[in-house]
Formats: sequence, C-alpha cells, structure tokens
Amino acid sequence: MASLTVRQIDEALKQQLRLRAARHGRSVEDEIRNILRDAAGDTETPPGPSPSQRATEPAATAARRVLLIIGGGIAAYKSLDLIRRLKERGIAVRCILTKAAEEFITPLSAGAITGERVFSDLFDPAHEFDVGHIRLAREADLIVVAPATADLMAKMANGLANDLATAVLLAAKAKILLAPAMNPAMWSNRATQRNLAQLTADGVTMIGPNSGEMAESGERGLGRMAEPLEIAASVEGIFKTAGAPQPLQGKRVLITAGPTHEPIDPVRYIANRSSGKQGYAIAQAAAAAGADVTLISGPVNLPKPAGVTVVDVETARDMLDAVERALPADVAIFAAAVADWRVANAGAQKIKKKAGAATPELALAENPDILSTIAHRPSGRPGLVIGFAAETENVEANAKAKLAKKGCDWILANDVSPATGIMGGDNNTIKLVTANGIEPWPPQSKEDAATMLIARIAAALKGDKT
Ligand code: C5P
Repeated sequence: MASLTVRQIDEALKQQLRLRAARHGRSVEDEIRNILRDAAGDTETPPGPSPSQRATEPAATAARRVLLIIGGGIAAYKSLDLIRRLKERGIAVRCILTKAAEEFITPLSAGAITGERVFSDLFDPAHEFDVGHIRLAREADLIVVAPATADLMAKMANGLANDLATAVLLAAKAKILLAPAMNPAMWSNRATQRNLAQLTADGVTMIGPNSGEMAESGERGLGRMAEPLEIAASVEGIFKTAGAPQPLQGKRVLITAGPTHEPIDPVRYIANRSSGKQGYAIAQAAAAAGADVTLISGPVNLPKPAGVTVVDVETARDMLDAVERALPADVAIFAAAVADWRVANAGAQKIKKKAGAATPELALAENPDILSTIAHRPSGRPGLVIGFAAETENVEANAKAKLAKKGCDWILANDVSPATGIMGGDNNTIKLVTANGIEPWPPQSKEDAATMLIARIAAALKGDKT
C-alpha cells in the first residue's frame, strides 16, 4: 500500500487541516485518520493509535505524563534537575522550551534527559503534524511551567497565545502548576501581583517563589524558583488528589533488585556489577501506578524510591528470607542479580595474608534460587512471577529455557555483554519472553522499560492477552 506523509501535502491544504483539527480538538494526524475512516464508511472505530503503535506505546497510557514548559530565566537550569526528579518518580516528561529559555539551556540537554523530542516552535510543520500543539496540551495529565517568568504569567493571565508554550497553555484542559521565578522587584510589581491573582482565580496552582539569593543580581528577596524536589513533591501531591490513572491500585508488588554480597570474611565479599537501577525504576513505576510496593534490595548506591517499602539485605539467603516474609503478593518481579554461590568456609575473622603461607582456598556453596523457589511454591505463589535473564550469548534460547526451568510466567531477557553497556548503564534493550512467544522491546531508558513493564502487568492483571 502506498504511504503518504503530511509533509508531502501542499501548504494550503495543510493549513485547512490544521484549522479543522483545532476545531475538533484533535491533532492533525488524528483528523486525517478520522477523514480516512469516514471516507471508508467506518464510523465505529474510535480515534486512537494503530495496533502497532499500541504495542510499542503502552507506557504512554499507563504513566502519569507531565508537560514541562521551561520559561526563559536563569532558573531554567534547575528545570533539567526537575526532569530527573519527575522521572525518578515514574512520571513521563515532555518539554517545551520558550525561545527565551533557549538562551539559558539547550533543547539538546532537555531532550537528552527526557529521552523525548523537545518542542519550541508553534509553526513547525513537521512537529505540527506529528505532535501538534493541541495534542501536546491534551496528552498531558499535568502541565508544569518552571520557571514561570513574569512575561509568561502576564501572557497566561491575559490569554495570549503567540508562541507554542502559550498556545498549549491556552488549549490545555489539564491542571496547570506554575513555579514562578523572577527578580523580587518584578515579583512584587503590581502588574505581576494582578496577574498572579487572575491566574489563581482561573484555577492555576502556584508553588513558590521562595525567598533567598538571586542568581543574577546578588540581591536577596522573594523570587527564587521553588527547588526541583519541592516541585516534584507538589506534582506527586496533585496526581494523588487528581486520581491520575492508577492501574495497579490495590495490588501488592514485590521486587528484588541489586546485587547480593556474599562474605568471604567480615571485610571482603563476592559480588557482581549490578547497579540496581532497573529494579529501582520498576519499583518506582509500580508505586506510580498505585501499587503497594515492597522492594527487597541488595547493597546499591541509589536513593530510595518514594512511596516504596525498602528492605535492605546483603546476602542471597537474607534476600530469600525477606521475600518470603513480604508475601503474599499479586506480582513478584525478580530483578536482583543474586550471586549463584556463597563462600561455604567464610572466615569469622579477617583472613590474614601470611608470608610464605599458601593462598587461602574458597569453597563455594550454591545459593538458593529465589525466583525458582517462589515460582514453585505449592501455595501462596504470586499470580504473576517475572524473572530476568541477563545473558551474554544465545539470549533468546537461554531465556526460553529459563522460563521453563524457573517456573516463572515471564522472563525479561537482556544482553549484558560488555559492549551493550546495559550492566550499570542507564538504558536497556529487553525481550519479553512468555509462553506465547518473544516480543522485542525498543532500546530505551531503564525508567521507560520499567513503565512499559508496569503497563504490561496492568494489562495482564486486567485479563488482556499477553
Ligand atoms: O539463573 P539466572 O541467575 O540467570 O536467573 C536470573 C533470574 O533469576 C533473575 O530474575 C534473578 O533475579 C533470579 N535469581 C534468583 N535467585 C538466584 C539466582 C537468580 O532469584 N539465586
């Protein structure tokens, strides 16, 4: 079948399509789908992503989505940290930069942290087709403006829409959170205070500004943008009270993460290179989806995910104990890189190096396989048991064999040979292996992979076919 992209359509027709899409509150892309559907006489199918898109975009429906509008102020650099803080909480972030914001930070840096395209032009034909301003507004569960400059506040208070940021804000139906940042004199100016009163009356939520040192002038006063952690906490609070999609509400999810440390003596141990990042991201995404999450964690260097019960353990045997104590669970995800062996003859005291003495011999004993133990439980087995298969060769074949051997329902297989950079890195390329086959997922950040997994779990618990 021939394919047509909107970029090939002539400008006058494109303009008509934009107007028509805006009238119907749709993206240009959805408008075209609707026209084609009408022409084909199919009025039943609701507008939405194609099945192939659905397969690769479950995260978009399960995640809470923030559209972050970054205004042009010195505090814009903090917004990059804000993106991180939001993503840590399992919140998907898209960014719009105003032209003035681009004087302070680059779309490249915002794009690298969000992992998404950054938007800035209202009349960019490519963007307007793919993700038009109406769709940008509609696809967000919450719009955050940080920093909100005096200029942006003035435009919003008066309904101006002469750039992408303000057009999106005017088209938005989602709640809006503003984090103002400006010089204290600008903040206390009567015009700004009038705009603030108007915006508050319009239902816009404010966080800050805080009082303190001004970056650009050495002055002190009210006008500093709220700190990224404060804004992120406020976003969480809004989502909790707004009843954002909570597909795992009422479900108990148990997750293991990180390495285990198997002592050789009181100061030395055997371990592996697991950073715990993937398991922690899964815990965060599950909590964001409303689950009651217990994370049994080996020693890692990561902040504790918000809203998650974390049980710290060291050895494989401690981990198994903690897992058994944390049952029952609806879902158990075994992301930990558990050491296969422990030292059977671990020293009670530090083993001393003695000149001329033979090197100490370590006798190894096999550790319990936690995943297999839980998956084979005759009673109290979680309804959905998921393991990982970190392989360096024959990834698919080994993962399939592991699914059968361990008795689990799904295996997330990944190639951890050093060239992939997956072990300890920020990205992951996963293949989901189930009894029904193998589904390759795109390369993505560990946070996005976690969100995708949680969406799949939510669908499975709802009874959708895996
Ligand atoms: O056998 P292998 O280590 O490759 O299996 C990986 C999967 O099994 C992971 O999900 C891991 O968390 C789990 N596992 C476990 N206990 C072990 C070894 C692995 O839970 N002792």
